[in-house]
Amino acid sequence: MYTHAPESGTDYLILHGCHTTVVLEYRPHEAPLWRYWGPRLPEGCAPLAPLRDGRAFPPATMDVDQPLSIAPCFGGAWFGQSALLAHRAGQQFEQAFDQCRIEWAQPGRSLILHLEDTVAQLGLDIHLALDEHDVLRLHSSLHNRGVDVLDVQWLAAGTLVLPGHAQQVRSFFGQWANEFQVQHDPLSHDIWLRENRRGRTSHDTFPGAVVMLPGATEHAGTAFGAHLAWSGNHRQLIERLHDALFQWQLGEWLAPGEVRLEPGETLDTPVLVASCSTAGLNGLAANFHAAVRAALPWPGGTMRPRPIHINTWEAMYFDHRPDELRALAEAASEIGVERFVLDDGWFHGRHHDRAALGDWWPDEGKYPDGLLPLAQYVQSLGMEFGLWLEPEMVNPDSELFRTHPDWALQIEGRPLHTMRNQLVLDVSRGEVADYLFERIDALLNEIPIAYIKWDMNRDLAHAGDANARPAYRRFVQAVYALLDRVRASHPAVEIESCASGGGRIDMGILAHTHRVWTSDCNDALSRVGIQRGALQFIPPEIMGAHIGPAPAHTTGRSQNLDFRAAVALPGHLGIEMDVRHLDRTQRNALKCWLDLYKCWRERLHHGQVWLGELGDNVVWQAHGGTRDLIVFVYRTAPTTCRYTPPLRLPMLEHDLEYRIQRLDPPAPEWTSSPLNNTLLAAGRGETPPLQGHGAWLAEAGLPLPRMLAESCAIYRIEAMHSAS
Ligand code: DGJ
Repeated sequence: MYTHAPESGTDYLILHGCHTTVVLEYRPHEAPLWRYWGPRLPEGCAPLAPLRDGRAFPPATMDVDQPLSIAPCFGGAWFGQSALLAHRAGQQFEQAFDQCRIEWAQPGRSLILHLEDTVAQLGLDIHLALDEHDVLRLHSSLHNRGVDVLDVQWLAAGTLVLPGHAQQVRSFFGQWANEFQVQHDPLSHDIWLRENRRGRTSHDTFPGAVVMLPGATEHAGTAFGAHLAWSGNHRQLIERLHDALFQWQLGEWLAPGEVRLEPGETLDTPVLVASCSTAGLNGLAANFHAAVRAALPWPGGTMRPRPIHINTWEAMYFDHRPDELRALAEAASEIGVERFVLDDGWFHGRHHDRAALGDWWPDEGKYPDGLLPLAQYVQSLGMEFGLWLEPEMVNPDSELFRTHPDWALQIEGRPLHTMRNQLVLDVSRGEVADYLFERIDALLNEIPIAYIKWDMNRDLAHAGDANARPAYRRFVQAVYALLDRVRASHPAVEIESCASGGGRIDMGILAHTHRVWTSDCNDALSRVGIQRGALQFIPPEIMGAHIGPAPAHTTGRSQNLDFRAAVALPGHLGIEMDVRHLDRTQRNALKCWLDLYKCWRERLHHGQVWLGELGDNVVWQAHGGTRDLIVFVYRTAPTTCRYTPPLRLPMLEHDLEYRIQRLDPPAPEWTSSPLNNTLLAAGRGETPPLQGHGAWLAEAGLPLPRMLAESCAIYRIEAMHSAS
């Protein structure tokens, strides 16, 4: 954990994961300097020489050298981006830490750096921990030790170092129904900056990114990733430094005046979750999946097999009729659905999206006897009952708003800007949180609700509280607290994070919920890209993926049922259409897909996920382990070649023999190759599975059939014995 260089009096603080190492250079009178974050170094390996006072001075430079520290601060000799920007009524506008005490929480794995600035009178505790999955977590706590208010404009959750040959940033942009679109930017002397000021995680700017070293691919090479576990405003930047390193900061974007620390007060940042992998993007994804899996608050401590949903939204929208809903439930249960989620439209006065949010009791016209009879009927069919709620919101046209107009976030003198006709409640007010808890608690007590789809359909704007102060961060904290309060009182209930689809997907909300609604887009072709983007950071078992109707409601495009099902299958499967309108053939086919999911969901949802691209409009994803895989091969557009390239699976073990079979339900006409017909027959148990050598499959590849556009082939590839 320490290496000491006696000749210079320098200590090195060293954290080791399985495959990565962090090295900081420590002196007791300054913030530790960043020396290394990257692939694992051997025990005892340390820098050749200290950086502090150890490197040649360039001309035209301050006479004091200031390399990148773990807490770079504005002022002094640091001219780069600062991890902290603060002042006291215009004074004490620069900071420099002059004391550092180390507290090891777990030797070699986690520590707290206690930094003090005795001039600016503040303390900063930086928590660092590197776990066995190579997940590096950082967060910071800023203490006001002075006698005046400290105005904080920016406090990074953490500052990371990246090597100077880092080449490219891979980040995500998007919008409603088109989340997780990948953007590649070259790293240069310009600052790379992404900010989100929408008050929720947003569709536009995912709070995280991946940085790739030259040569990094999906499967190999060094990739770094970082994510801010936070569901509100955020900011991340990468800046090239004069010593050819990059610094990477992530933190909460603070509104002007949002954080004013009174003497003795502390500001705690969200957690920065970072990782480095030498196994490319897929290795990095595995590390992030491990981080999410470790934080998910499953009822009872472990995840149950993910039940198949039917969600009423695209089947019924606001037109709730209990007899129709019962018929939908019957049709769903007949094909094997396991959870029935009653979406928007059930509560008092909710007949369209212009009214009623806030009035959380059943609509008397639609449900004269309440929701209990429907919930019980659903249960009698062997399914769980789930309910949609959007607790943080209020429509101006609602009894709640008419009674408490002051409960909405607003700024006096400004118009009440609506989005989807709704306003945001100030959940950080005790009486507002109490009202919401009481309504949710009453519903959960009265009705056997196993699942809440917790929606949030607008950005925060004019988000002022009753004291005319910005409420963004307190709003997020209050939502987390409300979720925890509901879970504490109803520990068996699972909760989904939805925000107009994927507008609130992050590791902050995932410490309080159990699934995300990835996107309102159920168009399978769009979903291929959306889901592949999301899988970089979140594991498949919590990624809501529904088989939607054709044509898709959000795009107008149609795909055949098999393709829609095959795209949804690897995630947390559901159906988002009126299954009563399917003909017998379609219904039987859908049932086959649901059966297939039930058969393989444990394998799909517990292992690693590898994503790959074959070219020629074919992408693939493999779930499981190196000895037992389920592989989905998607052709998204027509082929440009006469023959599809073979599928090389680099994760397979070279010296093992594998059994190969096709898993997809009945052979469609496009599986025209004799080999694949054999594999399909093997999948049906009609012929023995094909066998192949791991090295061959990894290096030369599995021959693929000629596939029509918008089709999928699914393989199981299972190790049998050593090939030697
Ligand atoms: C937005 C969600 O993303 C949809 O799935 C649906 O629940 C609607 N809200 C309901 O208003």
